[in-house]
Amino acid sequence: MPVITFSSPKGGAGKTTAACILGSMLAEQGATVTIIDADPNQFVQEWSQLPGLPPTLRIVGGATEETIMDKIDEAASTAAFVIVDLEGVASLMVSHAISMSDLVVIPVQGSQFDASQAARQIGLIKRTERRGGRNIPYTVLVTRTNPAIMPNTLKHILLSFEERAIPVLKTRLCDREAYRAMFSYGGTLQGLAGKGISNMAVAINNAAEFAAEIVQRLRDDRAQTKQVA
Ligand SMILES: Nc1ncnc2c1ncn2[C@@H]1O[C@H](COP(=O)(O)OP(=O)(O)OP(=O)(O)O)[C@@H](O)[C@H]1O
Ligand SMILES: [Mg+2]
Repeated sequence: MPVITFSSPKGGAGKTTAACILGSMLAEQGATVTIIDADPNQFVQEWSQLPGLPPTLRIVGGATEETIMDKIDEAASTAAFVIVDLEGVASLMVSHAISMSDLVVIPVQGSQFDASQAARQIGLIKRTERRGGRNIPYTVLVTRTNPAIMPNTLKHILLSFEERAIPVLKTRLCDREAYRAMFSYGGTLQGLAGKGISNMAVAINNAAEFAAEIVQRLRDDRAQTKQVA
């Protein structure tokens, strides 16, 4: 089933956080989800060892350049959604995962450095497309935004994406304590209820909107591919 890869050469862009928010939200909604932890730091694996993950969510660790393609194939044959969390580097493992993706999500925070790194990542996606002779859909996800204000720098970055026809998800992931707390307490956002985390309801809503937009994007892409065929 669809393979959604989180990738950016920028360390700390928000890949692992967004991948786990998406995976746990879809799993809480009843879908079977496998997250492949393809970062040697194995932070997703660490999270999976804490209590509270739903039975619909499976975490597969230990991916290497040699095994990543088999791990994605195996996961795609069993789970409704496969999510791949990649290391913040350009490597053969990153190219392999991108080549098998139905959607590559590139997290970007509101800085020009992140925007430039996103452009580099799109270059890598385009080269992978050329090698494989297959269209690889991608989108930018703006993350760690301030829910109260829209800084001019971010406006400027969004405008430059628009001018270059780079797709950007309408939903932005805000900077929320809940998105950090998941990794301290373990489990999903829903499981954090009653732990005194601020703004839980808005964090869950924001995450649900993000998951819904990703699912809609996958549906739109599939419909478009069918039309072309
Ligand atoms: N939406 C968010 N709200 C609050 N904190 C966030 C959010 N997104 C990321 N963070 C924090 O920012 C830091 C970097 O995030 P994360 O580890 O997800 O990035 P990454 O792109 O996976 O990094 P790496 O390149 O090292 O794998 C972490 O401390 C994480 O808790
Ligand atoms: Mg990471």
